[in-house]
Amino acid sequence: MGANILDGKRIAADIRAQVKADVASRSAHGLRPPGLAVVLVGEHPASQVYVRNKRKACAEVGFHSALHALPDSTSQAQLLALVDQLNADDTIDGILVQLPLPEQIDAEAVIERILPTKDVDGFHPYNVGRLALRMPQLRPCTPKGVMTLLERTGQQLEGLDAVVIGQSNIVGRPMALELLAARCTITVCHSRTKDLADKARAADVLVVAMGRARHVPGDWIKPGALVIDVGMNRDEQGKLCGDVDFATAVERAGWITPVPGGVGPMTIASLLQNTLQANALRTDNAGG
Ligand code: GUN
Repeated sequence: MGANILDGKRIAADIRAQVKADVASRSAHGLRPPGLAVVLVGEHPASQVYVRNKRKACAEVGFHSALHALPDSTSQAQLLALVDQLNADDTIDGILVQLPLPEQIDAEAVIERILPTKDVDGFHPYNVGRLALRMPQLRPCTPKGVMTLLERTGQQLEGLDAVVIGQSNIVGRPMALELLAARCTITVCHSRTKDLADKARAADVLVVAMGRARHVPGDWIKPGALVIDVGMNRDEQGKLCGDVDFATAVERAGWITPVPGGVGPMTIASLLQNTLQANALRTDNAGG
């Protein structure tokens, strides 16, 4: 018996269609389109692909998007000045500074400079704090996309044992906060965790974000578990693969995300939802 496949590509397409319809309806009421500023510093190849995909999604749903591509040599002061300018720009609802940033730049300081109401990545301490306190506003995109996938299974999450492998600020930590808010019991694992396999085997919900190709084999999966693979790696043949060994895990899981076509498209769908939400936060308050 194979698992049900959680088709992130299809669910993300549904969300994009919904966002597009919302933008059209707002525009019919004379409201301007949501605006996203995307800031890319340097020429990190993966970041260039992510940024291109994000801007393509914006165009598809009718958002205004502005790319600010800065050289690798950009100083912290220059980047902060750009953030200030975007904070003050009334046509911009969301500011996304693609990570990682070059080493001369303090990423935390840049994130903290973004107005929390324009922080569509949900990385600002204000937004992470709101999530921790169960009063979320702009939620980090990848964990939010994972929660949307989990909701689409129709499975009750309350009381389940959830294990998150990975403790990054972008995925692992906010993921744990999301699952806690959904009333799961949480274990967060990382590189110092003892007996990782045993912890994974106890998971009713297993979210893997460790960045190691096919590291989690099928026999780490509790039969019937909900398995979410956030990994995006290339194997020795150059083929895209996740952190979970899909071929063996699919035989034991109840639900599982493929890579590609699982979590990846959901991150962008959440970014669109957040930008729309940020636009509503501003236009509904300011009347324009
Ligand atoms: N780098 C990797 N993932 C992300 C993300 O979701 N947002 C930003 N800004 N940078 C990233």
